[in-house]
Formats: sequence, structure tokens, C-alpha cells
Amino acid sequence: MIVGVPKEIKVREYRVGMTPGGVKKLVDRGHKVLVETKAGIGSGLSDDEYHAAGAEIVKDIQTIYGRADMVVKVKEPIEPEYDLIRENQIIYTYLHLAADETLTHKLLERKCIAIAYETIQLPDGSLPLLKPMSEVAGRMATQVGANTLEKENGGKGLLLGGVPGVRQGRVVVLGGGVVGLNATKMAVGLGAQVSVLDVNLSTLNYLDDIFHGRVQTVYSDSESIRRYVAEADLLIGAVLIAGAKAPNLVNREMLRSMEDGSVLVDVAVDQGGCIETTKPTTHDDPTFVVDGVVHYCVANMPGAVAHTSTFALTNTTIAYAAMLADLGAEAAARKDRALALGFNAYKGKITCLAVAEAFSLECSDLGQLLGK
Ligand SMILES: NC(=O)c1ccc[n+]([C@@H]2O[C@H](COP(=O)([O-])OP(=O)(O)OC[C@H]3O[C@@H](n4cnc5c(N)ncnc54)[C@H](O)[C@@H]3O)[C@@H](O)[C@H]2O)c1
Repeated sequence: MIVGVPKEIKVREYRVGMTPGGVKKLVDRGHKVLVETKAGIGSGLSDDEYHAAGAEIVKDIQTIYGRADMVVKVKEPIEPEYDLIRENQIIYTYLHLAADETLTHKLLERKCIAIAYETIQLPDGSLPLLKPMSEVAGRMATQVGANTLEKENGGKGLLLGGVPGVRQGRVVVLGGGVVGLNATKMAVGLGAQVSVLDVNLSTLNYLDDIFHGRVQTVYSDSESIRRYVAEADLLIGAVLIAGAKAPNLVNREMLRSMEDGSVLVDVAVDQGGCIETTKPTTHDDPTFVVDGVVHYCVANMPGAVAHTSTFALTNTTIAYAAMLADLGAEAAARKDRALALGFNAYKGKITCLAVAEAFSLECSDLGQLLGK
């Protein structure tokens, strides 16, 4: 199969769909990989590295879409890419179609095979291709929170780890899933005093076990949230209810109970946020202040650490990319149920229920389309 890796053209997107290691894996299996020149530059990866891994470097995005059987990306295709997509071409990337009606119709019109990273789902319900970005965002949440607590950045001028004789910072993490666990690891590493609130007792058990009592685990309800939020120097929003808007757990009154110069990082902002005053911000202008509390609510946090994110992403996407390249889309979907769930559109038909429901479209059964 010919696999194409274009340079991302969405504004301020520095990640790329494949590392040189990923290229080598496909080339070693007998596939041809085209990489657009400078595709990896934002992630610190040069054309020479891709070439050494066996890629053919091509000069423009038209050549990638024109020659590739499968295009591997990070972000959803945007307007200049729409008409480059060819019939039967596999588009393998984050798509978030339920939030983008125009793109949904375009992909149907182009009769491509659109496979979304975010809906590939393992039998236990987990979303393996979302996990690496949650790991990155969770770790970043503590890092940007610590930084924002500095006086120059609007914070109260507090060092999270304290020093001997001076109290540590109090970090409160709402939600102990992937983001929450990673934020907690970093906060513990910095020497902060950390509390994690979750409604899932197994999650609290797990956190209690792995942190050997170093972290306070708390069952999450409105009273415990009220109590812990009031004391937080750094509050991290990391809740998720799969497929739903994030629940609003911290209201304005609770926010007012926080000290001036405290910081909140609402990582769940991409699902609407779990704090009443959250609104999405960008890396250009990441923070704003409400009631004396500095809010950091960037919806695409991993974009800021493109090098790490590109590697973390390829580590998880490459196995499915290899399966698609080896077997073709149809046989790969028949073989792997998790991958089949990633098929959002197949040759002009919607095959993902959530996307169909979002725009009142008909949902076709992929199994039937493939003649199972
Ligand atoms: N801003 C970004 O750049 C970025 C990047 C990656 C992920 N995210 C977002 O971060 C959020 C968390 O993702 P995740 O991968 O950690 O999800 P996850 O499913 O692993 O964890 C979510 C946790 O929230 C808990 N939870 C649910 N309701 C709760 C409540 N009322 N109180 C306390 N905890 C509750 C769940 O039990 C679960 O443990 C998601 O909205 C995700 O989209 C944002």
C-alpha cells in the first residue's frame, strides 16, 4: 500500500501523523511511505530522518493525497484538503465528526473511508488512541499550573513543593482517570500535597495503592468538592462522562471561596469543562481571571509539546496503520473489532451511530456493507 503523511495545515498544529520509526515499520513490511517535505519540522523531525527511515519525501500535499491509498494525519482535514480526498482513500486521523457537520458531508461526498482515532474502542470500553493525549495533557496540567502560580504569571506566588519550613502547595484533582492520574504523578513528584476526587471507588482504590498513602483520595460529591476546592492552590479539572458533556462540578460560589491568585486548569474544557466559569482558550492567550482565580483552559494542550505528543501518538496509531496497510481496510475491519469501531464513514455512508445521530443521518451497519 502507498501511505501518505502530509504536513498539518491547521493553524498552530505542530504535530505530525507519523514518526520516522513509524515510517520504518511500514517500509519494513513492504509498504511505500510518502512524507510531505517539512511535515515533521514542528515536532523536531527533519526530512533527512524520514528519508533515512525509508520514506520518499514529496514536495506538496497534492502529491500526498494524489498518490496515497491511505493518508495518516493528526487533525481532521480542513477546507483546502477537502477536494484532495479521493474515492476509496483511507483517511486515518482524529476526526471528531459529531462536532463538524461540514466535514461529515464532505467525507460522504468524497466517498472515502474515514477512520477516526477517537472512536477506536477496545472491548473494555477504553479508547486507546485518546489515551496518549490524556497522558500528555494530565502531565502538562500540573506543569502549567505550577508555572501559573508564579507571581509574574498572575498567580499567588507559591512554589508547589514549598521548602523546608514553608508549607507545600495544595493540588486538588477532580477525576482520577488518565488525565487525573498523570496530573497527580507530576504533582507528587513536585512535592505538593495532593487530593484526588472521583466517583469511581475502584479508581480511588487504585490511586491509594500506587501512591502508598502519599495522595489523599476522596469520594466526589458536592460537599467534598466544596470543601476541597476552597483549600486548593491549584485545581485541576479532569472528569469525563463518556460521550457526554462534562458535568459542572464547581459553581461560581465555590470559585469565590478560593484564595486570590489560586489557579485552575480545566483539562475537560474540550467537553465543555467541569467548572462553571470555564471557557476555551488558546496557546496564544491561555489564561483569564475570574473572581481572582487564574483560569487556564486550553482545549488542545498537547499541541504545545508537539515532539512528545507526536511520538506518543504514533506509538499507539502505528499498529492499526500497519494492520490497515497489510490487509486493506475491509479485511482489517473484519479482523479487529476495535478498529472497526473507528470507521466513521465508508464510501459515502455513515457507519458511526454517534455521528449519524448528531446530524439526523442514516447509520449503515459496517458489517453489512463489508458483506459479513
Ligand atoms: N484540554 C486538552 O487538551 C485535553 C487533552 C486530553 C484530554 N482532555 C479531556 O480531559 C478529560 C478527562 O479525560 P480522561 O482521559 O482522563 O478521562 P477518563 O475517563 O480516563 O477519566 C475521567 C474520570 O472522571 C471521573 N468522574 C466522572 N464523574 C465524576 C465526578 N462527578 N466527580 C469526580 N470524578 C468524576 C471518572 O470516574 C473517571 O475516573 C476529558 O474531557 C478529555 O476529553 C483534554
